[in-house]
Amino acid sequence: MTLAPAARIRGRLRVPGDKSISHRYAIVAALAEGRSSFEHFAPGADCHSTLSCLRQLGVDVKSDASGTVTIEGRGLGSFHRPAEALDAGNSGTTLRLLMGGVAGHRFSCRLVGDSSLSRRPMRRVIEPIEQMGARIEATDGHAPLTVHGAQLHGVTYHQRVASAQVKSAVLLAGLHAEGVTSVVEPAATRGHTERALLAFGGDATTRGLIVSVAGGQHLGARILAVPGDFSSAAFWLVAAAALPESSIEIEDVGLNPTRTGLLEVLRRFGARVHVEVTTTEGHEPRGIVRVEHDRSGAVTIAPEEVPGLIDELPAIAALAAHGGEVTVTGAAELRVKESDRIAVLVAGFRALGIAADERVDGFVVGGARRGGARSERPSGGRADARGDHRMAMAFAIAALAARQPSTIDGADAVVISYPGFFETLDRLIT
Ligand code: S3P
Repeated sequence: MTLAPAARIRGRLRVPGDKSISHRYAIVAALAEGRSSFEHFAPGADCHSTLSCLRQLGVDVKSDASGTVTIEGRGLGSFHRPAEALDAGNSGTTLRLLMGGVAGHRFSCRLVGDSSLSRRPMRRVIEPIEQMGARIEATDGHAPLTVHGAQLHGVTYHQRVASAQVKSAVLLAGLHAEGVTSVVEPAATRGHTERALLAFGGDATTRGLIVSVAGGQHLGARILAVPGDFSSAAFWLVAAAALPESSIEIEDVGLNPTRTGLLEVLRRFGARVHVEVTTTEGHEPRGIVRVEHDRSGAVTIAPEEVPGLIDELPAIAALAAHGGEVTVTGAAELRVKESDRIAVLVAGFRALGIAADERVDGFVVGGARRGGARSERPSGGRADARGDHRMAMAFAIAALAARQPSTIDGADAVVISYPGFFETLDRLIT
């Protein structure tokens, strides 16, 4: 994909349905009783992986051309033994949540993923699920792995890493366990599973950093609309903050407070940010966000902010391409995402002519340009997304600042979360 530089970006749009919420609605609906349907379900390949795994588990799933997904749930514990391995593709959320979702079923189930997912750490899920009574055979702590389901019992699990995927896997296993299951988080992570359980008539209690569910609860079918994905909106919001005379308004976007840390960062950077929550359907606040360029500054992301903007860090780095400077610490988790996002980001930004340095747990980008003054635009160049959707989109936003066209290798990875990203970019550039 070759991208020309752009002067400004303007417009009003909706972004695809939230990926994290879509995974949860699909899985929770499969464990509920009756027919659920979801408008504006995430169209990317990751949520498609979840739907096809659910079909292999015997769940009737339909999706139509308008983006509505219908799921016939048969209640807790009703998955069928799959004939073949469940393929989570590139999706960590699919793999980890389903490890928890199948663990209380009396069958063995093999789960596999692509080469990126097969490098990502799974012990963080294996440990709590085994404590609950299932057995998991993995490949040195990674996928491919086999979950040998069993009667589970509730536990109180103290998580070592702040991870919503781990928390959600334990809670989904907890629905199938005897007694109460609690997760104690080291820091608050996205709370979509808890909110989805409430939306489907179940019960999940959150007291500070402790989330608990009781086993055997009844979940009812629901008809819901998925809000737009804040993490997809993030790329447009960053571009609007960074490019002079820019303004972007995103409608019907998810505004769950565990996801919106970026907005505060954009204010610190110097942008004008307007947010309005319009509804809270399914316990998920959603509404309108407008970001306008004002000034460009230096921003430092503190470790305690990281869980609230972990997926937005590649986008935030792109602020630095346009004359800002971004320093991130306390984000070692970036190294175990779809790619090593610290190494891939620094290599890609340097290739675009932007100063970038790795830290063990973060990066520093921008400031003095390689071979030029700070105010100079980056040269542009050729950056490799290494198959990582968010890296491809971050490089695209950074490349808008360049003096010359840039090429992004592996740009088709955007289909993971944002099919149509480049067409939308074309439309928003003025
Ligand atoms: C997600 C949780 C986060 C995030 C990922 C989606 C989720 O991962 O980075 O893109 O849907 O629960 P971790 O749980 O590994 O932090």
